[in-house]
Amino acid sequence: MTLCFATNNANKLAEISAMLGDQFDLKTLQEIGCFEEIPETQDTIAGNSRQKAQYVWEHFRVNCFADDSGLEVDALDGAPGVHSAYYGGHPRSYERNVNLLLTNLEGKTDRKARFRTVITLVLDGQYHAFEGVAEGVILTEPRGTGGFGYDPVFQPDGYDRTFAEMSLDEKGAISHRRKAFEKLIAFLKK
Ligand code: IMP
Repeated sequence: MTLCFATNNANKLAEISAMLGDQFDLKTLQEIGCFEEIPETQDTIAGNSRQKAQYVWEHFRVNCFADDSGLEVDALDGAPGVHSAYYGGHPRSYERNVNLLLTNLEGKTDRKARFRTVITLVLDGQYHAFEGVAEGVILTEPRGTGGFGYDPVFQPDGYDRTFAEMSLDEKGAISHRRKAFEKLIAFLKK
């Protein structure tokens, strides 16, 4: 079955291709002729993921899936959430995002947070959503050099290291994205 992954992120594409195997003919956005920027204007992670999948389905009539992720911090009422990528402003800067997060959390004792990924799959016009969550806490200062985004300040529950102090494989095994992808794959292989 031909399936488009609505992303321009080569790392995500490689990861999901390896998990899917050759049962599926996975296409990039460019391979289906989509060169425009897909709007992400919804106010939830689930909404943005659906908007991207719906855009591809409605404009190209290709079965596809799209993912969207973000960090939700309890003491900040779920922020940065859907605004995770540009929390510190434009252009995107992981360092500014982390600094603003730590500033906004100064003096807060509740440091609970989670990464959430929602994948929307559209198959012949039917929509299906798959969610993955990684629970943890936000530290008071960054630790580690691996990963990206908020990884240096996010310590998953049950670990004494941040995502940025883990190898790619170690983070990959417990990440929000991996959990959501596993649900998608289990559904597709059914
Ligand atoms: P995206 O929807 O996967 O592009 O994620 C949106 C934003 O959420 C990213 O730009 C990061 O700031 C943040 N984010 C998502 N996943 C992760 C992660 O695994 N580690 C750190 N930050 C992440």
